[in-house]
Amino acid sequence: MADGRRGVALVTGGSRGIGAAASVALAADGWDVGVNYRTRADDAAQVVKACEQLGRRAIAVQADVVEADQIERLFDTVTAELGPIGAVINNAGIVTPAARVAEYDAARLEQVFRVNSVSAFLVAGAAVRRMSTASGGAGGVIVNISSRAAVLGSAGEYVDYAASKAAVDALTIGLANEVATEGIRVLGVRPGLIETEIHAPGRLERIGATPPLGRPGRAEEVAEVIAFLVSDRSSYMTGSSVDVAGGR
Ligand SMILES: NC(=O)c1ccc[n+]([C@@H]2O[C@H](COP(=O)([O-])OP(=O)(O)OC[C@H]3O[C@@H](n4cnc5c(N)ncnc54)[C@H](OP(=O)(O)O)[C@@H]3O)[C@@H](O)[C@H]2O)c1
Repeated sequence: MADGRRGVALVTGGSRGIGAAASVALAADGWDVGVNYRTRADDAAQVVKACEQLGRRAIAVQADVVEADQIERLFDTVTAELGPIGAVINNAGIVTPAARVAEYDAARLEQVFRVNSVSAFLVAGAAVRRMSTASGGAGGVIVNISSRAAVLGSAGEYVDYAASKAAVDALTIGLANEVATEGIRVLGVRPGLIETEIHAPGRLERIGATPPLGRPGRAEEVAEVIAFLVSDRSSYMTGSSVDVAGGR
């Protein structure tokens, strides 16, 4: 443990994309990793294998992070099998199909806010209850995965998704201030266009070259920033969100 803080990390939505890359980057940095997934057990098992090949312990845990009881089971399982959790990557998320605001119905809105916003609050709350030095915990770091969409608004595509991520940005600021004296730092990452399965077919091909850097990002490029934020190398940062968006 090079910086003395690395221990056990929990990554929600760790089976694919940015969460999978974050799990592997954290393992490479010396963390043992709880890899959460909702449906894709085989993908989560591959991520666990990649972490183990780096010499770390890792487990895959199925849980739907919109359900409070499943979040409790997720945290309890990771703690029982790997030890007290010192870092939580609040990453699980979905996008909605492209549509204009005037076309949204309540079911669509409830789903995107539930998966992206409500779950982020519930996961962060579960982390604070266990990490806070005010309740006997050892402190830690929470990294909330937002999106550049929260700032750009995503007109004509998914303004609801953008708004659900703006809620995550506010969570980062407010919670950071709430727990700053309890040993917990709270940070955000706002990825831009990153090559993962989250995009509708053809979207990356259509707009992937539009960021100033002229290409979409790779999940590993976001994961490096996450690994920095959970390490002591960012020890004087809390409440801020970092754009990883190729200038977009
Ligand atoms: N890719 C981008 O361009 C981009 C840009 C900005 C922000 N982001 C954000 O980055 C995060 C990761 O995105 P990604 O592109 O890596 O997505 P992805 O490739 O579609 O992966 C999504 C992950 O979230 C999990 N998941 C979804 N709903 C869940 C739930 N209810 N409970 C538990 N796990 C759940 C999935 O599990 P299963 O594999 O089991 O289905 C999967 O591991 C999201 O919050 C997304 O909004 C992505």
